[in-house]
Amino acid sequence: MSQATIESILQEERLFKPPAEFSQAAQIKSLEEYQSLYEKSVADPEAFWGQLAAQELHWFQKWDKVLDWQPPFVQWFVGGKLNVTYNCLDRHLSNGRRDKTALIWEGEPGDSRTFTYAQLHREVCQMANVLKQLGVKKGDRVGIYMPMIPEVAIAMLACARIGAPHTVVFGGFSAEALKDRLLDAQAKVVITADGGWRKDAIVPVKEQVNKALADNGVPSVEKVLVVQRTGQLVHMEPGRDLWWHELREGVSADCPAEPMDSEDTLFILYTSGTTGKPKGIVHTTAGYNLYTHITTKWIFDVKDTDILWCTADVGWITGHSYIIYGPLSNGATTLMYEGAPRSSNPGCFWDVIQKYRVTIFYTAPTAIRTFMKMGEELPKARDLSSLRLLGSVGEPINPTAWMWYYRVIGNERCPITDTWWQTETGGAMIAPLPGATPTKPGSATLPFPGVIADVVDANGNPVGENQGGYLVIKNPWPGMLRTVYRNPDRYRSPYWEHIPPKNGQYLYFTGDGARKDRDGYFWIMGRVDDVINIAGHRLGTMEVESALVSHPAVSEAAVVGRPEEIKGEELVAFVTLESGYSASEELAKELKQHVVREIGAIARPSEIRFTDALPKTRSGKIVRRVLRALAAGQEVVGDLSTLEDRGVLDQLRAGT
Ligand code: PRX
Repeated sequence: MSQATIESILQEERLFKPPAEFSQAAQIKSLEEYQSLYEKSVADPEAFWGQLAAQELHWFQKWDKVLDWQPPFVQWFVGGKLNVTYNCLDRHLSNGRRDKTALIWEGEPGDSRTFTYAQLHREVCQMANVLKQLGVKKGDRVGIYMPMIPEVAIAMLACARIGAPHTVVFGGFSAEALKDRLLDAQAKVVITADGGWRKDAIVPVKEQVNKALADNGVPSVEKVLVVQRTGQLVHMEPGRDLWWHELREGVSADCPAEPMDSEDTLFILYTSGTTGKPKGIVHTTAGYNLYTHITTKWIFDVKDTDILWCTADVGWITGHSYIIYGPLSNGATTLMYEGAPRSSNPGCFWDVIQKYRVTIFYTAPTAIRTFMKMGEELPKARDLSSLRLLGSVGEPINPTAWMWYYRVIGNERCPITDTWWQTETGGAMIAPLPGATPTKPGSATLPFPGVIADVVDANGNPVGENQGGYLVIKNPWPGMLRTVYRNPDRYRSPYWEHIPPKNGQYLYFTGDGARKDRDGYFWIMGRVDDVINIAGHRLGTMEVESALVSHPAVSEAAVVGRPEEIKGEELVAFVTLESGYSASEELAKELKQHVVREIGAIARPSEIRFTDALPKTRSGKIVRRVLRALAAGQEVVGDLSTLEDRGVLDQLRAGT
């Protein structure tokens, strides 16, 4: 975050009370109601979550125990049996929502499809039966690498129906990145498409799957199920690849939901950490279902008449929780859009809102800042009067963007819910309840009931009012990650031992910096570790560095984030070369392209800086603080006595 942004946030004093009409009709109607819920939730978490689980979800068998907390490992609703798709689909067939629209889909070229709950149920059952025919059994992992088409939702739900954990890989990741994830998850089947539309071009997902699986690159993958979307010619590997539209012919739509244990894995979602390759975050059935259900209900204030549009890609946790599982569990209507704002139609988001009378709109600050730059004319030319609530997620929202969102998109009528959370948390953790919590531009406000959040120092001691520190969570919650797939040490150590546990009190380390103001409102300041947030996408500096050093020209690489107006941050890579190579524009271009090939376009460095050496401590650790300052064009301040060679710094300075 830039110094100017930090200063403007520190001075932010504006307070927006929920509009009275909104509060009257809201799920949670006042700050007092929130406070009383919150107090109950922390005084007796088991009673609180147990009651909600009984009230909000359907169970095949009730649990024996609400919470089993053996820090840092947790189990929720031990002994219970349920199926998330029963909660997202079946129960709505008999509660009056059978013919209600469950999913609205708008394709980028302007085609569209809608599914009632009965239709979605049918499709999911059919795909579940096809997966069974392909040999997928309970517990087998299924990779999903798809564009934003209805079948991605159908595929996820089909997996959940038969108890096969899905692992969705964002369609913008490269073949290499896909391969890494499929290998780690040991996926048995991959579901993909012949392509999808994005920014007037076809995203070649099938081609990437072919590359990832070439030469038996992922030996566990036996079959690839391919959905026809674009109709373009793609290579289908005989014996391995099968068309969904062919296999579904004549397949029964009868597929009872598999009774799953509360703690059976629902999905694995890969995300970036500070070390090594991305880690497979494991979410389980009951806790995730309940947590996404209740956060959708209270934070998005979902009613039967709502049409909820979350603009995230389903390849990220936001898409999982607030396009698919949360809205459908609540019986809401969820909207999925295939494309993105593009030069041929920069106002497409506003067209979609106008066309479908979207009531709840949830997007990222980067998108808001992009819209700001495009000007008010585009949204002003559309009828956005259906909107009643706006959400923000993925990165800190600066007050200026918040105010623009509030004024131009919300017409000063719609509360804004800035939701702080992570892949690991499953659902939103700090966010206003829109009918209850007064908002302050730039603050995610207060913790959700059942969540004890705090700001602490490196030893876990709470810091004072408005003092910066680490954002931590002090108790388990149902939506939390259970482990890192096949790597429990990567679960235990970075999350739960980063701040040393004291007297059995474990603190969940979020990796974010924050401060708490005099009203107890949280202000998230961004990552404090080696994770970078670019346009709301999370990347580990290590991943990008490994990608760079895998190029023959590169000897060493250090990657840092630099504040950027629209994307929040951008990547700057400092690179030393192997002998025989020399710095050039062409090489910089090639290295950027190399990173795109290795990871995907979201990881493309904005700048490559060639240098003879990197600033290191005597023990050989790269001093990133120095590089961050240099990348941002700032003075390098602070103690530099640990630098092994001060000359390196002078050289780097001279190069800037
Ligand atoms: O730094 C925080 C930022 O996004 C990180 C989590 O990224 P990811 O796991 O990809 O999940 C993103 C969507 C939930 C966090 O550690 N972040 C997320 N939401 C906010 C945020 N930073 C500030 N304000 C937010 N509302």
